[in-house]
Amino acid sequence: MRSIRKREHIEYYLKTTFQGDTFLGDVFLEHNALPNLNFDEIDTSIVFGNKQIDFPLFINAMTGGSSLTREINKDLSTLARDFNIPMAVGSQTIALEGDEDAIDSFRIVREIIGDQGVVIGNLSGQASVEEAKRAMDMINADAIQIHLNPAQELVMEEGDREFKGIIDNIEAIVNNIDKPVIVKEIGFGISKDVAEKLYNVGVRYIDISGYGGTNFIEIENLRNQSFDFTELYSWGIPTAASLINCRKLPNDLKLISSGGIRNSMDIVKSIALGAEVAGISGELLSYVVHGGYLNAKDYLDKIIYKMKILMLLLGKKNIEELKTSTDYRITGRLKDLV
Ligand SMILES: Cc1cc2nc3c(=O)[nH]c(=O)nc-3n(C[C@H](O)[C@H](O)[C@H](O)COP(=O)(O)O)c2cc1C
Repeated sequence: MRSIRKREHIEYYLKTTFQGDTFLGDVFLEHNALPNLNFDEIDTSIVFGNKQIDFPLFINAMTGGSSLTREINKDLSTLARDFNIPMAVGSQTIALEGDEDAIDSFRIVREIIGDQGVVIGNLSGQASVEEAKRAMDMINADAIQIHLNPAQELVMEEGDREFKGIIDNIEAIVNNIDKPVIVKEIGFGISKDVAEKLYNVGVRYIDISGYGGTNFIEIENLRNQSFDFTELYSWGIPTAASLINCRKLPNDLKLISSGGIRNSMDIVKSIALGAEVAGISGELLSYVVHGGYLNAKDYLDKIIYKMKILMLLLGKKNIEELKTSTDYRITGRLKDLV
């Protein structure tokens, strides 16, 4: 049942047509006509956890749990290895039930990436400490993501309807796991209020996964057409607004920008707004499904090249400078939300 759902999420993601807006277009970065830098000096590497990665970019949680998703995970993890960027696996709940094929579809990610790369586990906010430990052991994870997805569950016919106590689960996981615990949304964003609640129970990594990219209300609506949810397609906090508002919390809260990240401009703006890294899911999945590894590699090569051009045009030679010293201006509708 769960593995059919995983396959359907991919199948229906590829059929979605509704275009939300991240509002990253309302962030203005000023051109520097006199950058005192050479292109070759641009350094895009950062330390993520305790490992060095080559770009402030990662492949965000998508899939696992069946033979089709194993093949997709193979391509995604080969990309993560070749670009030396982190990869988060999809929800491992399916593998905690003990099915060997499901477990293998996640383990392949660590096998391909090797010990030197960053692999991140993934479970829902309903997970216990013991489940989080098992999920991490399964892939020798460097960190674990805990996803919050009430909007998706509520429009899913078979989804959860009980959301009480999730903050207590998260607090227990943070207190009992000695690696980074990243709390994430799945495309509807994290408000400052929610970020503050998470911060107060000890969470120090939030992946905002805002609105403007993958839309799980639409995906679930396409899966089950007996109930029309179209009027909810515009629900969510645009990625730029979520990021700016969460950035008002103390700096030891590390932010990850995701939700509608598709190109070099989205990544550069995310870092300028204070994110450590930007995560891509849906857009990369499309490239993998429609043209395999080489197609996706070409896409990543090109956005990385353009990201370096933008860094030069801002006069920023490394990611720390880009993150801490880029002036930005907020225009348009975004101004009203931050
Ligand atoms: C097919 C698909 C499956 C996903 N499965 C998961 C999942 O299992 N766990 C999770 O935390 N997020 C999952 N996500 C959400 C992504 O990690 C991400 O938060 C969201 O798609 C927004 O990013 P995007 O606009 O770049 O796709 C999934 C996304 C897609 C497209």
